Amino acid sequence: MIKIMFICLGNICRSPMAEIIFRDLASKAGLGGDFLIESSATSGENVYNGIGAAVYPPAVRVLASHGLSAAGKRAVRLKRDDYDKYDMFICMDRHNVSDVIRIFGGDKDNKISMLMDYTARPGDVSDPWYTGDFDTAYNDISEGCKGLLDYLK
Ligand code: 4NP
Repeated sequence: MIKIMFICLGNICRSPMAEIIFRDLASKAGLGGDFLIESSATSGENVYNGIGAAVYPPAVRVLASHGLSAAGKRAVRLKRDDYDKYDMFICMDRHNVSDVIRIFGGDKDNKISMLMDYTARPGDVSDPWYTGDFDTAYNDISEGCKGLLDYLK
């Protein structure tokens, strides 16, 4: 069992998309049982009184256009003690990486990477919160998830 945590700033757009897309790819490859797949936020912006926000509606819509459901996913914040509970912390951009290193106080077991590292074009996932372009974000995340699954196979 490989335990994967996808991470972005708010856990309402990019990392929930990665969680849902990767779970679907793994399931379609017959490997659903080999992974624990979750996602979380570096910030607490979208968790109020312990209750996380739902996935942002434009992200829900782009997932739905690809036949995927975001039902039930609520934002959660990454915690320091998550470090020993997961094998990989896969960030959407470089700011997430520095925030995650700060939350964990380091990365002694080299568990932190960026999603696009698993593609031929490493770098940040396009951030739809600022671009408004959820299709480009979907395509980046889908390419990253395919590359990640190939890497892990
Ligand atoms: P995400 O997008 O990190 O992909 O979930 C964002 C969501 C919320 C905010 C920023 C980015 N925010 O500032 O609340």
